[in-house]
Amino acid sequence: MRKVVWDMDPGIDDALALILALKSPKVRVAGITTVAGNAPVEKASTNARRVLEYLGAANIPVALGAASPLNRPLEDALSYHGSDGLGNCSLPPPKLPLQPLEAWDFLVQSVLDAPDEVTLVATGPLTNVAYAFELQPKLPELLNRLVLMGGAYGLTPYGKGNCTPFAEFNIWQDPEAAHMVFSSGADIFAVGLDVTMDPAACLNSQHLEQIKARHTPAARLAARLVEYQVKYHGCCRMHDPLALAVLLDDSLLDFTLAKVGVVKGNDWDRGVTRILPSDSLQLIHVASAVDGPRFLKLFLSRILKE
Ligand code: BDR
Ligand code: CA
Repeated sequence: MRKVVWDMDPGIDDALALILALKSPKVRVAGITTVAGNAPVEKASTNARRVLEYLGAANIPVALGAASPLNRPLEDALSYHGSDGLGNCSLPPPKLPLQPLEAWDFLVQSVLDAPDEVTLVATGPLTNVAYAFELQPKLPELLNRLVLMGGAYGLTPYGKGNCTPFAEFNIWQDPEAAHMVFSSGADIFAVGLDVTMDPAACLNSQHLEQIKARHTPAARLAARLVEYQVKYHGCCRMHDPLALAVLLDDSLLDFTLAKVGVVKGNDWDRGVTRILPSDSLQLIHVASAVDGPRFLKLFLSRILKE
């Protein structure tokens, strides 16, 4: 079983990924850190705890992280995810407190306590991860691996921007942090829009009917989240669940090894992730294809099981 520590910004697809993880025996979520991204960080951490408590997983600690990206104020995505960040799903507020450590301290401690064992999953802007790597420079090499949702690499027709025409949201939100993480020496698996925007990996209204027919807590919550996306956006993109899927079945996605440059600053190309032949960049694994139908089958079978 894989030990996962997870940095997230829930967010509808982060929450769907979390449900998927909690229903998957192959991973054990040992802790969650939250970051400003889809929602302000207080709301993101409330959401992580609302989901955990609703699914009977309140024993998983949640540590609060950065309230804004390294060099700029947050520009959240509540207009996309609903004013509560979870499609106005009406889950009750959390009862349990946050874990007392700050996110970066929690990340450092979790990895130092179990060197080479922790898989870090990052499904929001990379601010907390950058802070943790700065705090403990040995951290990248002590990780088992880092699986992240972020970037658009031009490897498929879908690998274009979703936040600007050229940049993906998580990287665009904090490109300085992404630059630090992408040159940290960690063993990185980047799942970007090239695969997550593949229409074959997207939930539609028929999938929603299947989920609605089931009456377990996981299925009920998933139905509310997916329904919001289908209603307002036509389908439910599975960005963050696809990053988690890498840990559940490594035959679902293909990866190519590439050197990736991240455009920092505030110009038109802010947050662009470019595959470049430069000697100064490290190699990372970039997702280049997904078996969409098989991924959706796996997702639904986990979400719908008892
Ligand atoms: C990413 O941005 C966020 O809105 C989603 O949660 C996902 O992590 C997709 O670009
Ligand atoms: Ca996210």
